[in-house]
Amino acid sequence: MGTTPENRVEQIRGARIAGTGSFVPLRVMTNADLEKTVDTSDEWISTRTGIRERHISDDGASTSDLAAEAAKAAMAEAGVAASDIEMIVVGTATPDRLFPSTACRLQEKLGAFNAAAFDVLAACTGFLYGLTVARSVIGSGVVDNVLVVGAETLSKITDWTDRNTCVLFGDGAGAAVVKPCEPGRGILSASMGSDGRLGYLLELPAGGSLHPVTEQTVQNRMHYIKMRGNEVFKNAVRAMGSVAEDALLKAGVKAEQLDLLIPHQANLRIIKATARRLGVDSDKVFVNVHKYGNTSSASVPIALHEARGEGRIKDGDLVELVAFGAGFTWGAAVIRW
Ligand code: UT7
Repeated sequence: MGTTPENRVEQIRGARIAGTGSFVPLRVMTNADLEKTVDTSDEWISTRTGIRERHISDDGASTSDLAAEAAKAAMAEAGVAASDIEMIVVGTATPDRLFPSTACRLQEKLGAFNAAAFDVLAACTGFLYGLTVARSVIGSGVVDNVLVVGAETLSKITDWTDRNTCVLFGDGAGAAVVKPCEPGRGILSASMGSDGRLGYLLELPAGGSLHPVTEQTVQNRMHYIKMRGNEVFKNAVRAMGSVAEDALLKAGVKAEQLDLLIPHQANLRIIKATARRLGVDSDKVFVNVHKYGNTSSASVPIALHEARGEGRIKDGDLVELVAFGAGFTWGAAVIRW
């Protein structure tokens, strides 16, 4: 931008996504594979969730490995070198370690040593929370180039003996490079919220300070995801609908003006119910849950990257991203591409 730190503060700037990338591990696990290990069926999984297969990382791979591949692709498209990145925000619920952050590990892998790096823990909403942070720090002139990543290795915290959860999740990463632009383009609005009272409905009980890992917590399988699916489902539809409406209102546009809605890919029935509630036609809703399952914070950026790859987003299009996750947390952003 060629601005000095002094006059940056005066500016009101827009923020746009200048490049996207995604990565999923090679190994595919189909519903038929799961039929062999738990009491489930391809019919149950596909009719209740829309999921047909998911990608699972190797034992030695960590979340930052997936994040690095997605980030490199986004940086290449944006034409941004590692040394240009000034901030790295990683949305993840499956960090490499509790600390240091996965963002710092990613920084090392990218060689992006001019960046401040930190994680955002908002589960499936992590990428949208990160995007909102990026928009804010760019808009207020703090930095110019922000790398936002949503990356997960949920397979590592999945209880492969629990059919209620093990059929749902997959591993992957998606990334976006966010840069300044003229106001009125790029990310037009962002809306976010949370409700900590409902945290118990979807959680990883042990491994933090509340329940440090002990033999007992391991025996009780408290280091795996626990979810009350049906209650999460109802809250997801409600919250995704209202946060999407709020972001549209803030952007001063109507749902019927959207060229594409990219919802969090947890369950095809949640996606359809959210679109119905908003009044968005199904041909304007991006779906790839059948290929990847629920990849939590990675789902929205993977979907965004794929939608662009398939030519579903053209210059000038109006796109809305919306997500919901553990916490509960929710968020939406309206983008003029
Ligand atoms: O990313 C954000 C967070 N996560 C989500 O958004 C997920 C939200 N929830 C969901 O997607 C759905 O609630 C599920 C897909 C998890 C479950 O679908 P549901 O229609 O809500 O089913 P249910 O939990 O009410 O279970 C119905 C039946 C139960 O049997 P009974 O009690 O009726 O005899 C379950 O035991 O389905 C049974 N069931 C299964 N059967 C075969 C649960 N999981 C399976 C399975 N295979 N994998």
